[in-house]
Amino acid sequence: MGRIRILPDQVANQIAAGEVVDRPASVVKELLENALDAGATRIRVEVEAGGRKLIRLSDDGQGMTRDDALLAFERHATSKLRTADDLLSIATLGFRGEALPSIASVARVTLETATGEETTGTRMEIAGGKILHVSDAALPRGTTLTVADLFFNTPARRKFLRAESTELGHITALVTHYALANPDKHFELLSATHTIVSAPPVARIAERIYQIFGKETLAQLLPVAAELPLQRAGLPEPPPWRKNPDNPARDPGSLRLSGFYSKPELQKLNRNSIYIFINKRLIRDRLLMHAITEAYRNVIPPTSFPVVLLFLEMPPEEVDVNVHPAKTEVRFRQQSLVHDFVRDSLRTALIKARPAAGFLAALDSAPAASPSLMPPAASPLPGSPDGEPVPPDSNPAAFQTARTDADAFELTPHLPTPIPGKLPFTAQSFQPGGGFSGWNDQQAWGEAAAALFQPAGLPPAGDCSPHPSDDPRVNPAAETALIEAEQAAANLNQLGSLRPLGQLRESFILATGDDGLWIIDQHVAHERILFEKILRDRQVEKVMRQRLLMPLLVELKPAQMVVFASIAEELERNGFEVEPFGPQTLAVKAAPVGLEGSSLERMLAEVIEQSSADSDEPKQNHDLTELRTRIAASIACHSAIKVNTPLDPARMEWLLSELAKTSHPTSCPHGRPIALMYSWKEIQRAFHRI
Ligand SMILES: Nc1ncnc2c1ncn2[C@@H]1O[C@H](COP(=O)(O)OP(=O)(O)OP(=O)(O)O)[C@@H](O)[C@H]1O
Ligand SMILES: [Mg+2]
Repeated sequence: MGRIRILPDQVANQIAAGEVVDRPASVVKELLENALDAGATRIRVEVEAGGRKLIRLSDDGQGMTRDDALLAFERHATSKLRTADDLLSIATLGFRGEALPSIASVARVTLETATGEETTGTRMEIAGGKILHVSDAALPRGTTLTVADLFFNTPARRKFLRAESTELGHITALVTHYALANPDKHFELLSATHTIVSAPPVARIAERIYQIFGKETLAQLLPVAAELPLQRAGLPEPPPWRKNPDNPARDPGSLRLSGFYSKPELQKLNRNSIYIFINKRLIRDRLLMHAITEAYRNVIPPTSFPVVLLFLEMPPEEVDVNVHPAKTEVRFRQQSLVHDFVRDSLRTALIKARPAAGFLAALDSAPAASPSLMPPAASPLPGSPDGEPVPPDSNPAAFQTARTDADAFELTPHLPTPIPGKLPFTAQSFQPGGGFSGWNDQQAWGEAAAALFQPAGLPPAGDCSPHPSDDPRVNPAAETALIEAEQAAANLNQLGSLRPLGQLRESFILATGDDGLWIIDQHVAHERILFEKILRDRQVEKVMRQRLLMPLLVELKPAQMVVFASIAEELERNGFEVEPFGPQTLAVKAAPVGLEGSSLERMLAEVIEQSSADSDEPKQNHDLTELRTRIAASIACHSAIKVNTPLDPARMEWLLSELAKTSHPTSCPHGRPIALMYSWKEIQRAFHRI
């Protein structure tokens, strides 16, 4: 007898469950996605004991007929795909037909569902993959799935679960993400004792950020929106004989980006505050992470990360979501196009906004490894490769992170106080339709973009969703926060017209403008001006060099000689003329203008040291752009005006006007702030005038 056997369905489902359901949060994720796919506008999640004991998700979506309900728990049963071709253009969050049977194979599940069209709804009980009971039930339209005793029949899995608070933290993070991606829908998350998330529908993502994270967070973010038509982008035109005039090629659509990014003054020590949604699906993607880091290169320090909420919309054919069972990774058809689009859009937005750092905010904004949207110790995404390991966390109030001065910015959702009595439930908050609107829905996107960027306080025409101020739970201060956030965006443009008053300890320039009092760090200001000039000159090979009267002799160790050899050519293009002078000595005969003596020596030592650190990481070693910017940053740093240097008024004015012309007057190439503003409002407030 042969040894190979087909596995029984129950075993196959448990194997699938191993990939799809690794913790309570992954159950919530699958159920949330199902509810969104079913067009729900209101989603309520209840959990007990961090989801181990109970997860109940109710939605007001389209529901299921009795037949569909029976089929839904079969393996590979889905309403979202029909043919293999459909896999190439997935417009729903789910498509594998695996989630429900996987969950049902490792828990006790109750399904209650009604379409509103059939005379009665269906109630069904399943445990360990077996249907135990099916009956009629009078139910409103929608679906409620109750998942109890998760992993009751797989003790090994149960052992891997973390503390209740950690699991609840993961669930909170997840509901928060989906709430951000769907501001027009009502999300609630309740534990046995608390309302953790309560987010009624709002018109704009900005308002949703306010609802969930509060005013300070919103004030530190700036909006971004961009669009790139895919017409011909990245792909060759078909030859004339392949073109069919009767059947013109379908519009290839466009890449669209919207969302929020942090001002350079806000820096994080990890990537936890970067959120990327593709067609409303939250994903982890190294390529886009890289694009975002690139956008901030030389604006924030290389060891810091920004806070970014990025919503990318693209035709479903452009992105393959069928890469990982947990659907948290994707593959783009045109990788570099998407990468460059994200990098350039963010970079352009940063250059355009030139946000000025507030004096008080800068005091608080030391880079912090914030848990961001996550509660402490939470992983970014259940099932994602970066998600583990998670240190156990036994603090039951874990996600109510204490606020300290150094941690002024957090994306951690604040726990709303429990709302006594019944939640207000108006007919208004139930809106028909919803669900995932395919990217093709131009109007929908247009509206979404308009909603995101229109002036605060004006609901879009025809908008029927409750405005925050209509809702008793939403503080009308949301409006003020929005206005402040928007106003804060336009500032550094005035640098050129500031009036310098003098210097503080011959190191900082004091200047006044309409908006307040400015303090400018003269060294880093000059550093930024020089840095951008050096890069520009280098690009057109017009670097100015100066001959040294006496060659400068530099002693190097053998390992440093090797590093030097690898960067010698780039140094030469930056104005250096260096010749070997014995086995361990270099003679520098010419150098970029402005760099001499000990500064020149220190600059060379710095670049060699930084480049040798890199040679341990071969992947970066050949990155010429990085080397180029590193050299430019180093030359700029060592030839810029130093602190403790007196400047006459004309020189100060020159410095300010040159700084105004740079792309990033916000921070020096190493990420330190250049100009801080003590705003007129802050001054008035401090003197108790307002
Ligand atoms: N909340 C819901 N409302 C209406 N229909 C639902 C709901 N949840 C599930 N269904 C139906 O049950 C089917 C099976 O759900 P399941 O989550 O197992 O698979 P899927 O969503 O199609 O794919 P995936 O495994 O990728 O999630 C869905 O295709 C859908 O038709
Ligand atoms: Mg699903």
